[in-house]
Amino acid sequence: MGAGGQKAPLPSKPKIIIMHHFTYKAGALHAEDVPITTIADAVGTPFYCYSTATLERHYNVFNDALARFDHLICFALKANSNQAVIKTLGNLGAGMDVVSEGELRRALMAGVPGEKICFSGVGKTRDEMAYALKSGILSFNIESEPELTVLSETATSLGLTANIAIRVNPDVDAKTHAKISTGKAENKFGVPFKDALRVYAHAASLPGLKVHGVHMHIGSQITDLTPFKNAFLLMRELVIALRNAGHSITHIDLGGGLGIPYEETAEAPPHPDLYADIIENTVGDLGATFIFEPGRLITGNAGILVSKLLYYKEGEAKDFMIVDTAMNDLIRPTLYDAYHQILPIAEQQASAPKYLMDVVGPVCETGDFLAENRELPRLAPDDLIAILSAGAYGAVQSCTYNSRPLIPEVMVKGEEFAIIRPRPTLEELINLDKLPNWL
Ligand code: LLP
Repeated sequence: MGAGGQKAPLPSKPKIIIMHHFTYKAGALHAEDVPITTIADAVGTPFYCYSTATLERHYNVFNDALARFDHLICFALKANSNQAVIKTLGNLGAGMDVVSEGELRRALMAGVPGEKICFSGVGKTRDEMAYALKSGILSFNIESEPELTVLSETATSLGLTANIAIRVNPDVDAKTHAKISTGKAENKFGVPFKDALRVYAHAASLPGLKVHGVHMHIGSQITDLTPFKNAFLLMRELVIALRNAGHSITHIDLGGGLGIPYEETAEAPPHPDLYADIIENTVGDLGATFIFEPGRLITGNAGILVSKLLYYKEGEAKDFMIVDTAMNDLIRPTLYDAYHQILPIAEQQASAPKYLMDVVGPVCETGDFLAENRELPRLAPDDLIAILSAGAYGAVQSCTYNSRPLIPEVMVKGEEFAIIRPRPTLEELINLDKLPNWL
C-alpha cells in the first residue's frame, strides 16, 4: 500500500495564510533567510527554531492595536522562557508576567526591570514572595485570602510594600479546551467575583500591601471575543465598585488568552484590533494603565519544531510517519488535542499525492503522536519536516521521558542563526542522577 498501493490520495483543501517568516524559497523551507537544512546540518535534529522577525511582528501588531490605551504588555514567560526570546521582547519594551522565582530570575537576567514584571500564580511561596519584593516588581497578582496574609507578613518582615491586584474569577466560559480554561467557578484560579469587595477590604486592612489593581485571566487559545467582553464588563462593574469603596485602582490587568491560527483550514481568530475594540467598549473609559499578559499570541507562530523522518511504516488501516521528535519535546497534541500544521522541508508539488497517516515519535506510549489522521505527502527516511506553531508551550513543556535529552533551541535573525540552548549530551543527562553511598 502507500504510494501506488490501495490507499487512494486525498483531495486537496483550501488554505488560510498563517503569518510568520517560515516560507519556502527555491523549493526549501527557510526561517527568514536561513535554509532549515543549514541549521539541521549544524545542530542535528530534532530542534526548535524561532524567528526574530515573527516575534517582533507579533509583539508590534499587538502593541499597535493597544496604542489607544495607556498600557504595558507583560509577556507570559511560561509560553517561552528562553533568555534570547525574553531579551528580544524586552528590547521592544515588553514587561513580563511570571509565575515562579525561576521565571522571575529569567526575566531579570534578560534585563527586564522589576518595575515591568507581574507575578501571577496560585501557589507563590514565602521565599518567592521575598525575592520578588526585593526585586521591586510592578504587581503581585493575588489568588486567595491566605496568600494575602502570607504576602503581608513577608513584606512587613522585610520592611517593604507589595503592590497588589487581586485576580477575580468571573465564572465565564472561555469556550476553549477544558485543560486551558481558567475563569470558571470550578477552576482553582482567582477569588469569586461575589467575594471580591470583601477580599479587597481585607487586603486594604493588612500592613505591607498596597492595593493598586484588578486582575483577570479566563483561559488560553480563546478564539471568540464574547467571553472576553462578558468578563471585561464584570471587571468594569468591579472597578467602579472598588473605587466607590475608596480603593485607588490605577492598574487593570486583563490577562492574556487571545488565540492564534494553528490550522490552515480553520477560521482565523479575531485580530488584536477587534480585541482592542472590545476593551474600548467595556473598560476603556476607566482611566487606568492596562496590563496585558499574552503568551501564545507573541511566540506561538514564531517557532517551529524540526524533525527527521526515521521510518515510514505502512499499517493496515493507515500509515505511520515515525519521526525523531516525540511527545516529550511537544506534549500539546496529546495533552490538549492540539493541531499543529506539518510541512515537509523540501517543498512538494501542489499535485503531489497525499495520504492519511499518523505522525508519531519513538516514545513508548500510544499517546506519543504529533498528528493523527493527517493528510501528508509520503516522505522518505532522512527527509525533514517542520511542525508549525510550536513557539509557545513547546520547549518549555518538554521533558526527558524515555531518557531523551532536551532538544536545542535556535534563533534566526535575517541571514544569521544562533544556538540559544544547546543539546545536552546523554552523559550530562545521566550524570544528573547521584548514587546513594550504600550502592
Ligand atoms: N496570564 C496568566 C495568568 C496565565 O495563566 C496564562 C496562561 C497567560 C497569561 C498566557 O496565556 P496565553 O496568552 O498564552 O493564552 N500549556 C497550554 C497553555 C496554558 C496556558 C496557561 N496560562 C497550551 O499549550 O495550550
